[in-house]
Amino acid sequence: MSQLHTPQAGDDQSEDLDVVALLMRQHGDIRNLFDEVEATTGDERREAFRRLVRLLAVHETAEEEVVHPFARRSMPGGQQIVEDRLAEEKAAKETLAALDDMDTDDPGFLPKLRALRTDVQEHARKEERYEFSHIRRSTDVTNLAAMAKAVKAAEAMAPTRPHPGVQSGAANVALGPVAALMDRTKDAVRKAMGKD
Ligand SMILES: [Fe+2]
Ligand SMILES: [Fe+2]
Repeated sequence: MSQLHTPQAGDDQSEDLDVVALLMRQHGDIRNLFDEVEATTGDERREAFRRLVRLLAVHETAEEEVVHPFARRSMPGGQQIVEDRLAEEKAAKETLAALDDMDTDDPGFLPKLRALRTDVQEHARKEERYEFSHIRRSTDVTNLAAMAKAVKAAEAMAPTRPHPGVQSGAANVALGPVAALMDRTKDAVRKAMGKD
């Protein structure tokens, strides 16, 4: 079972230069982490779920700081499209927090996780369809790279691979609560974008 770890694109240079490539890869990593949580049990599931919580929290926070504001102001109908995405993100975060309070081996955990997965993947499809395609068409390379840099600053807070030495659920308590992680992510993104 310990071989089951989420594959990662690694140092794909296009992701340094293109925010859309980077976010699409994160959507893939999130999907793979859902697979990993579903396929494991016990400490392995607990550890994979920590990584999923972390990546989802960081990914959605980065989108809220970088992608949605751009889409809102630059896209026809952007205001409503972004409102809809933000409502989906808020609902997902609430479910994530509820799951985070459950034991990962609780019989109620998997059904709730699968419901979250359905919602998160539908949300991601809508982002790709409505926002990402627009960003690709309407943004110059400099801006794509600047946005990628900000999202990368966020991603640095969410390793998708297991941390060496982190074997038990207890060790992950050190990662801290999701809300604090989102705050730190926001700060890192704003700093990378030259705002404070
Ligand atoms: Fe999102
Ligand atoms: Fe997304």
